[in-house]
Amino acid sequence: MAKTPNIRRKKEMKGIILAGGSATRLYPSTLVTSKQLLPVYDRPMIFYPLNTLIRAGIRDILIIVAPEHSGDFMNLLGALFFNRGVKISFQVQQEPRGLPEAFILGENHIDDDNVALILGDNIFQDDFSSVVRDFRSGGQVFATQVNDPERFGVVKFDRQGKANRIVEKPDSFVSDYAVTGLYLYDSRVVDVAKRLKPSRRGELEIVDLHNWYLRRGELKVKTFKGAWLDAGTHDALLEAGNIVRQNKINENFDPIIVEALAEYCEAHKRRMKRRLG
Ligand code: DAU
Repeated sequence: MAKTPNIRRKKEMKGIILAGGSATRLYPSTLVTSKQLLPVYDRPMIFYPLNTLIRAGIRDILIIVAPEHSGDFMNLLGALFFNRGVKISFQVQQEPRGLPEAFILGENHIDDDNVALILGDNIFQDDFSSVVRDFRSGGQVFATQVNDPERFGVVKFDRQGKANRIVEKPDSFVSDYAVTGLYLYDSRVVDVAKRLKPSRRGELEIVDLHNWYLRRGELKVKTFKGAWLDAGTHDALLEAGNIVRQNKINENFDPIIVEALAEYCEAHKRRMKRRLG
């Protein structure tokens, strides 16, 4: 049985960034490193989801990575937030078995708290801090209008604007509102994820988690209008860089990341100088 959350105690919001996967669509670039470490305009992609979580007030973040790139993530992020009040930990996902596996791998990290999962290749312009702050229990996803809904999970709203159906990559038109890669859930999500069966393509599907909460009337869907990018192909990656630059998304980072990055780059420069004599 799924745990019933204790809604009387104010729970913490833990963060998870899912940054594994094989990213074969980005070969040969991803032969070198992980997709989520490739640059989007002026910084590695992972900083955008990190910023979304940190800006939303989340201070305890688990990053799930593929085994072959775990060293790259640790070199970049292992010490970056040292003494800055943000705890970063890492977990290896042996193979990409589906997005819900993030909750299973993150069970100890989530503990009895709520959790915000963000996909490592999703870039958001919006600030979600008020929704994260107000979240108590159930599920919360974020949707936005797109031109290519067949590439995403999509949500259909009824006449009252209430979500009544979520479908993963529909063959025929259902709705042009894509469910984006940021999900807030209470800790029941761990047990629900453990009970999921792989779909026909052999993966656990995030849409099955959404629908579990939707069936119980416990899933909220919030729409937003700011830029949202899923940088999973060469063209999308290039476009993401341009949109980040146009919308100055990179200039609106949380001061915690801005300061950590500036100091880290300075320290690196000093080390290089010393090495070169
Ligand atoms: O971007 C939003 C979309 O993300 C949603 O609209 C869909 O409902 C959701 O299923 C997901 O679709 P994608 O086709 O983009 O999922 P993909 O398999 O590409 O995985 C997204 C990211 O998560 C990708 O950067 C790799 C990483 N990943 C994926 C899987 C399946 C992992 O780290 N581990 C995994 O097991």
